[in-house]
Amino acid sequence: MNTTLLTEDALSPKLTHLGDLAKRYASPEFSVTHGGRVHTIAAGHYTVRGLSRYVRLGEFVAHKSATGIHLGEVVRVEPDLIYVCPIEPGEPIGIHDVVIRKGAFRISPSDGWCGRTINSLCEPIDGLGPITEGLERRSISNTAPPSMTRQRVENGFKTGVRAIDIFSPLCLGQRLGIFAGSGVGKSTLLSMLARADAFDKVVIALVGERGREVREFIEDTLGANMKKAIAVVATSDESPMLRKMAPLTAVTIAEHFRDKGENVLFIVDSVTRFAHAIREVATASGEPPIARGYPASVFTELPRLLERAGPGPEGAGTITAIISILVDGDNHNDPIADSTRGILDGHIVLQRSLAEEGRYPPIDPLASISRLARKAWTPDQEKLVSRLKVLIHRFEETRDLRLIGGYRPGADPDLDMAVKQVPIIYDVLKQSPGDRESLDAFADLAGALKAAAGVPTPSAPIQRRA
Ligand SMILES: Nc1ncnc2c1ncn2[C@@H]1O[C@H](COP(=O)(O)OP(=O)(O)OP(=O)(O)O)[C@@H](O)[C@H]1O
Ligand SMILES: [Mg+2]
Repeated sequence: MNTTLLTEDALSPKLTHLGDLAKRYASPEFSVTHGGRVHTIAAGHYTVRGLSRYVRLGEFVAHKSATGIHLGEVVRVEPDLIYVCPIEPGEPIGIHDVVIRKGAFRISPSDGWCGRTINSLCEPIDGLGPITEGLERRSISNTAPPSMTRQRVENGFKTGVRAIDIFSPLCLGQRLGIFAGSGVGKSTLLSMLARADAFDKVVIALVGERGREVREFIEDTLGANMKKAIAVVATSDESPMLRKMAPLTAVTIAEHFRDKGENVLFIVDSVTRFAHAIREVATASGEPPIARGYPASVFTELPRLLERAGPGPEGAGTITAIISILVDGDNHNDPIADSTRGILDGHIVLQRSLAEEGRYPPIDPLASISRLARKAWTPDQEKLVSRLKVLIHRFEETRDLRLIGGYRPGADPDLDMAVKQVPIIYDVLKQSPGDRESLDAFADLAGALKAAAGVPTPSAPIQRRA
């Protein structure tokens, strides 16, 4: 057969049209698509025959039942079966029900979403009516921009939280983790940070929160920033699939605004509950656990999510990510805390002992690090902070000694200074959500120290110890 006859030039316009039609029908977006039938049903997942050749891992399928159409995610593909985790719990599934391919889950964010609260599927849950979709469709399982095309992180910003602005200042496009045990103050600190002025938009993913806390967070704490905020909520009673999707939907919305050149603050509370949701989905699909019950997919999903934050390509804006990490039983070395600490550009450690003393926010200034702090501090501020840390360390290491009366003023000038100044520093760092935001944390600190005698200020830093 002469194959040259089959080149595109040789094809008649009718054949070209037929080819176009075939391409259109092959698109997962098109309503006519591949289908299969439910084969087995188990708690947490069901299997489908007839779709193995057509679907990819992570794509969505739609299951038709008596109560309507329900989405599910493909979590495992075998030669003749696919495993699907339903998005909504308790959907009625029957053997031989029809399941059709939907492709990647796509959303169309728009400016009209600001001030709204939605679920992981982008359906409004605030009772304020429908939301308008934008023109562009984005897959929620997008990948991060290539690292060499991304801008550099250069510009510091003020969070308004004194303990952070002094000891671990942040830059636009940074990724920061807040590590603490349960009930120590993570959500409260996140809500204080969500009020920072430096951002055009704030996108918040609340994962596995108690229903009561969601309204508190959104209505009480966001305040004026609510107008530029979008909250994506999956409460603790929702399916693991919805909890797993919430941060992915939220980061996709953040990417939409970043690509328009805006600076976006992306908050996740908490990443640990996102990891728990991935663990539940993976366990249901038979993936073996590798570390403390967590399957390998948790450790690939976490960097994939966090890498999507950061500075965008030239011409785009930035996504600054602030996420909370619940450390199980106050063990800061649990697998999720460990793996996220390596991915992030800084971590704030909250200590239960400080919360118990009433020192809120209970940030441990010695254990907290911002890897980009140097870009945010002036050289004088950097010197001052390093000196403050020496004083705090000296104060803390002699705490027991001082309690048993082993401290004599005059024997160690450094310790004398620490005893005089550290309680003042601790007082300056105290801040609750109702307090006025700090416009210049260093000025506040200088003012308080000036009130005591012989004080260091950023313009006249104390010399380092020899
Ligand atoms: N800055 C603060 N000022 C005053 N009180 C605070 C502050 N931060 C936290 N608290 C107190 O600590 C309690 C618990 O805080 P929060 O809910 O933020 O903790 P969490 O770490 O998010 O808890 P969970 O692990 O349950 O999500 C609050 O109800 C509040 O009483
Ligand atoms: Mg919380």
